[in-house]
Amino acid sequence: MAVERTLSIIKPDAVKKGVIGGALHRLELGGLKIIATKMVHLSTVQAKAFYAVHKERPFYNSLVEFMTTGPVVVSVLEGENAILKNREIMGATDPAKAADGTIRKLYGANIENNAVHGSDGPDTAKQEIAFFFAASEIHG
Ligand code: CMP
Repeated sequence: MAVERTLSIIKPDAVKKGVIGGALHRLELGGLKIIATKMVHLSTVQAKAFYAVHKERPFYNSLVEFMTTGPVVVSVLEGENAILKNREIMGATDPAKAADGTIRKLYGANIENNAVHGSDGPDTAKQEIAFFFAASEIHG
């Protein structure tokens, strides 16, 4: 296993619920180290660009609108196998299908308002981290 970095987003629904600490705590309990973090209110242009890979999907416009409804907390997580580990701690995309104890099971409401995002592979992790953070903001 290699030490990896991945991007985490605590989405507007979870920020509004007051569970920033709860989500970050679970990521840290899982062995992931937070090496950068900040709160950002995405513009429509930013949200569209971040989720451009989904632009042909029927939920794209709604997802972009949801992601701009309030601030998000973006973090860079580092650790052994961090990309997969983050995805395990988040749980399945649809909170109804997520395992007990996962962040989405605990805090997600539905497949769109699902509390958190995590990079799905090494290439997207690199792109997504660079989308939000300059190298000088990452303290690994
Ligand atoms: P995320 O991990 O941020 O990646 C893309 C997001 O699109 C996903 O979490 C959900 O918030 C959203 N999403 C995925 N599938 C659907 C769907 N079928 N309907 C609505 N939103 C979806």
